[in-house]
Amino acid sequence: MPDETCYITTPIYYVNDKPHIGHVYTTTVCDVWARFMRFCGRDVFFLTGTDEHAAKVVDAAAERGLTAQEWADQNAAAFEAIFRRLGMTNDDFIRTSQQRHREKVTEYVKALLESGDVYLGDYEGWYDADQEEYIPASKAGEYDYQSPITGKPLVRKTEKNYFFRLSEYREALLGHFEEHGAFVLPEARRNEIIARIKDAEDVPISRTGAGDWGIRVPGDDEHTIYVWIDALFNYLTTVDTAERRRYWPPAYHLIAKDILWFHGCIWPAVLMALRKLPGYEWVGLFERLYAHSFWISEGQKMSKSLGNFIDLAAIEHYVEVYSLDMWRYFLATQGPLGATDADFAAAHFHEVYNTDLVNTVGNCASRVTAMISKYFEGATPTELLAGSRLVVGGYDWPVSAAEAVGTAMRAMEAFDLPGAIGAALALIRRVDGFINQTEPFKLAKDETKREELGAILYQCVEAVRIASLVLWPVMPEKTGRLWEALGLEIDPARQRLSDLADWGGMQPGTKVEQIALFPRIDWPQAAPA
Ligand code: MSP
Repeated sequence: MPDETCYITTPIYYVNDKPHIGHVYTTTVCDVWARFMRFCGRDVFFLTGTDEHAAKVVDAAAERGLTAQEWADQNAAAFEAIFRRLGMTNDDFIRTSQQRHREKVTEYVKALLESGDVYLGDYEGWYDADQEEYIPASKAGEYDYQSPITGKPLVRKTEKNYFFRLSEYREALLGHFEEHGAFVLPEARRNEIIARIKDAEDVPISRTGAGDWGIRVPGDDEHTIYVWIDALFNYLTTVDTAERRRYWPPAYHLIAKDILWFHGCIWPAVLMALRKLPGYEWVGLFERLYAHSFWISEGQKMSKSLGNFIDLAAIEHYVEVYSLDMWRYFLATQGPLGATDADFAAAHFHEVYNTDLVNTVGNCASRVTAMISKYFEGATPTELLAGSRLVVGGYDWPVSAAEAVGTAMRAMEAFDLPGAIGAALALIRRVDGFINQTEPFKLAKDETKREELGAILYQCVEAVRIASLVLWPVMPEKTGRLWEALGLEIDPARQRLSDLADWGGMQPGTKVEQIALFPRIDWPQAAPA
């Protein structure tokens, strides 16, 4: 069976400053999803990168006496470094200042100019300088002529501009939303964007006076392509090669709610415009846009003035103290994936570590491996008595394990990371309940119960093994260590979750070692300074 291709993207991040938890969050949830889907046998292409041609990059560079390119290089390197540090498995890292991107953007804009979907006109409107975004007249009043993001006054701006004929695509866009219920998720974001599309006007896609930082409008050196249009094209430029075109269209564009307008309205309309042109028929619309909410920090919006950003130093602290896998686990299970913001609080982080990892995953793995070590000298026992599986206390383990994996797979399809991970934790809690009910430590004292004891411990370790497969995408290091302790050679790059998850994978006789996965950590010593 040929592998089903599947393309997932993060926003490309501005390089005017260093990365923080927001950037790391979106990229981490994509990484967990990408790993999971690869493990399910999909041919995944996972893209992240940096958006470099913003005016604020030029300004930030100038403040430091650097060229925009130098400053962009430094910050792009910081993004790449933190993504590597945090275990991201992106297949490429696009930088919009790269030649491969610039050439393709020029080609697309040229095609749109020729088709008339991009035209030269006059523009006057309310401009949010920090966000580099025009605010529609109807919205500007509603916002009291202040930036909805920074609160700074909007400025009145007039310029000769190239426009994209967005108004032409209103009906087609609304029709697409009508036909594809899950085109934009969650539901709250879908409703928000539909309401805005209803009065979408043509949008300017160029600006003048940008110096030499940016991509020129083809045939008109006075104009630079507006950074947002340049940036959106990254999703296409990166895979617009003979080898990669098969990945198009994306299964998921992951973003946060701050950039919904560009991704939920302008981007699909641009794709519709391009798709009409000869040679671009393959450029269908992405399947889903998922716009999550925001992390706040200890109950407050993260801001420079409050100095409460979960920045690179804070991230490093959490990774050092609690492990990389706990960091990933926290982001994946406690983050603002839905329509509400999530609070990053040190005390909550500590509590989740204790409850889920120390007391649940770690404790169960340690209990089960300790008992096999103690009662069976570390050799995995068999669950078969006279050739048949022992069912104790009404626990039908093969069914429970298969259900947990099935639930996890369905949840991941719907980008419900907490649901998928929760299914694995529920399976582990079930093992704990089973141990409490069957009391193997008591059976161990009765020589006549030895086979029953073996069968029970087999079922425990096998269920833990299957739960660990589901946990691998979020906790690759710890599950790798667990597999070593269980004497398993598992390679998620070569093997498939569905094959490995079949009940009975643990071979009786396999040597198991006792393992402590998540050490207890003292509070408040663990709290960040
Ligand atoms: N460069 C544009 C995106 C262009 S995509 C074609 C941009 N960059 S950004 O650096 O500001 O990154 C915005 C994205 O970072 C958000 O959409 C989100 O993915 C992530 N986050 C930034 N702050 C965040 C939080 N506080 N919480 C969660 N994610 C947030 O916009």
